Amino acid sequence: MWPTTTALLVFLEIVSSTTAAWPSEQLVSKGGKAYSCKCYPGDACYPTSDEWRKLNATVGGNLQVALPPGAPCHNSLNGIPTFDAAKCADVMANFMGEQWTTDQPIANLWTYWTNDTCLPTTDPGTSCTRGFYGDWVILAQTKEHIKAGIDFAREHNLRLVIRNTGHDFMGRSTAFGALVVNTHSFKTVSFTKKYTGPGRYRGGAVTIGAGIQVRELYRLANQQSPPVVVVGGECPTVGLAGGYIQGGGHGPMASFYGMAADNALSFNIVTATGQFATANEAQNADLFWALKGGGPSTFGVVVSLTVKTFPEVPSASVILNINSTHTNDTELFFKGVAAVHNLANHFVDNGMFVYYELMPLRFHVQPIVGPNMTAAQITKVVQPMFDALNKAGVPYSTSTKAFNTFFDLYIDIFEDEAAGSDALIGGRIITHEDIDKNAAGIIDAYKATLNSGTFIIGHIVGPGFGAPVVDNAINPVWRNASSFSITTIPIAGNAPLSDKAQAQNIITNVVGKALREAAPHGGAYVNEGDLEEPNWQTEFWGSHYPRLLKLKEKWDPTGVFYARTTPGTEDWEVIDHGTRLCRKL
Ligand SMILES: Cc1cc2nc3c(=O)[nH]c(=O)nc-3n(C[C@H](O)[C@H](O)[C@H](O)COP(=O)(O)OP(=O)(O)OC[C@H]3O[C@@H](n4cnc5c(N)ncnc54)[C@H](O)[C@@H]3O)c2cc1C
Ligand SMILES: *[C@@H]1O[C@H](CO)[C@@H](O)[C@H](O)[C@H]1NC(C)=O
Ligand SMILES: *[C@@H]1O[C@H](CO)[C@@H](O)[C@H](O)[C@H]1NC(C)=O
Ligand SMILES: *[C@@H]1O[C@H](CO)[C@@H](O)[C@H](O)[C@H]1NC(C)=O
Ligand SMILES: *[C@@H]1O[C@H](CO)[C@@H](O)[C@H](O)[C@H]1NC(C)=O
Ligand SMILES: *[C@@H]1O[C@H](CO)[C@@H](O)[C@H](O)[C@H]1NC(C)=O
Ligand SMILES: *[C@@H]1O[C@H](CO)[C@@H](O)[C@H](O)[C@H]1NC(C)=O
Repeated sequence: MWPTTTALLVFLEIVSSTTAAWPSEQLVSKGGKAYSCKCYPGDACYPTSDEWRKLNATVGGNLQVALPPGAPCHNSLNGIPTFDAAKCADVMANFMGEQWTTDQPIANLWTYWTNDTCLPTTDPGTSCTRGFYGDWVILAQTKEHIKAGIDFAREHNLRLVIRNTGHDFMGRSTAFGALVVNTHSFKTVSFTKKYTGPGRYRGGAVTIGAGIQVRELYRLANQQSPPVVVVGGECPTVGLAGGYIQGGGHGPMASFYGMAADNALSFNIVTATGQFATANEAQNADLFWALKGGGPSTFGVVVSLTVKTFPEVPSASVILNINSTHTNDTELFFKGVAAVHNLANHFVDNGMFVYYELMPLRFHVQPIVGPNMTAAQITKVVQPMFDALNKAGVPYSTSTKAFNTFFDLYIDIFEDEAAGSDALIGGRIITHEDIDKNAAGIIDAYKATLNSGTFIIGHIVGPGFGAPVVDNAINPVWRNASSFSITTIPIAGNAPLSDKAQAQNIITNVVGKALREAAPHGGAYVNEGDLEEPNWQTEFWGSHYPRLLKLKEKWDPTGVFYARTTPGTEDWEVIDHGTRLCRKL
């Protein structure tokens, strides 16, 4: 039957209002598929220089032309002269430096997803292009600057990237042709002994700006009287309020006090429509739920965050090394790995956390953390590990140390990480049940991982011990977790596309497959996972996904925010070899 005139008019109205939501869309047809794309330089819908000038005025002169960190070592980029000997020397000295990298406007810690087309060099004649770095960056100083960036990106239909520390292993704080909003300068911190906001919680809390990095927060927490602790990442320079907590956030205290997202009390954000909003138990409760683990750069831009603080506790650590100074026998080596990993449930059930690096003939376990333990207590809890090592005849080195506070342990025992690495990653959350039923199979999957040229950054962690179970968007599988492994394969950002495809295939179909099969009750972690994870919606969020999808449609219906493999992004595709973000029509 033909539609009635009224129905047709309603239909047309819907169509025109839909069109009105994208005043400046770029229609593209590729391989028989139709797309509505973001606007890029060269497109008719791209803003004029005058419009960029006006944006700069709105953000108080904090708009910059974005330049790759290596640009000062090259003569020019797209005809813009960039060479600066002093700045180049600075870049050369610091490119591997964690804090330096996070302090730059658009740099990424791991550079694979920047495409490595303008690396620091001693030869200024070599070419420098932007690769997958953005074109413009707002070094936001106020929430109004963030709002101006969001409004400008929405009105002009631009690819928008929120960049806090540049830690994203999965390249989601950088993008070709993007307007980048940098939240690194939001460094306010305010502690209270008694939270008085909505909800029943009346313990200690801290409100932090989006740019706060975890070690600086741990230090300030330690200076309180009495000292307190916050659940944050293991890595000193990761942000707390940005992608980290919005993806869930594990760390050295997570088995003891819960995931970072379990401890969030309130968020202040700027929404996709440019509104300032508070999200907590009383206001925008649905958004509050989603921000606690539902995905980075998905529901809004966090300006500030309030999280619980906890009493400091005396803590103890054990370090263990098994490497080629001890044995060159791979079978014996893996018996050593098994002696540790098979005890994952035992460790997390005691509130403990373990960080380790595993590569061929190098098993570096630094540290095993025992919160609220003395040296005698940790020695007792860890004894089954030594018994297993000794029984298997595995040689090793170890040391145990006790500290007055967790903070003292953190500063003494955790090692800094280097920036500038090039790698592609994947990962798997392993549960209690997986360890109970298939601990040996998991070790076999680790062997297969190492045999494929992939390394493991391992964590024995599970937010189960004593921590209250919070209703939030983190992958429900975390509640059963006792181990989480990042798989990482070294590959240059400027490697030939065929090499990149091969590395991706190993991560997804060799290593990823082995771990999925070995740990079938597990899942994956959106902050440290495989961009090609099959069934990523379910693997990253389990039964929460349908609700997250609805909330994405409610809070960001036009797709102002985009980070690959976050809720709602199945409607989008980055075409033209990673250079054009488009909605599928
Ligand atoms: C060396 C290293 C160590 C790590 N250690 C841990 C760890 O111990 N535990 C753990 O759970 N994870 C860890 N991670 C992973 C980390 O959680 C993610 O990379 C996380 O996304 C980083 O968030 P960020 O804001 O610091 O980084 P960015 O790279 O700046 O941002 C990451 C993502 O969050 C979005 N985002 C940034 N700021 C905001 C904001 N203000 N509002 C909304 N969205 C925003 C970005 O758009 C991007 O999608 C580590 C990563 C690295 C590289
Ligand atoms: C924005 O304005 C500031 C201050 O006037 C200026 O230094 C800066 O170069 C401008 N940015 C751009 C991209 O023109
Ligand atoms: C990114 O790098 C690949 C090679 O790995 C290259 O083919 C492609 O052109 C690069 N794209 C950009 C935008 O730099
Ligand atoms: C293992 O091999 C390396 C390199 O050949 C050698 O230096 C090392 O001493 C060997 N380790 C043992 C325990 O034999
Ligand atoms: C630490 O352990 C002691 C007992 O050894 C216990 O009384 C105390 O409650 C524990 N502290 C925390 C924060 O769990
Ligand atoms: C091997 O273990 C020893 C401790 O016995 C440590 O000093 C050394 O750094 C380790 N080597 C590697 C490559 O990790
Ligand atoms: C957690 O484990 C329990 C017990 O094995 C199981 O019933 C439950 O389904 C698991 N939860 C998830 C989200 O996997």
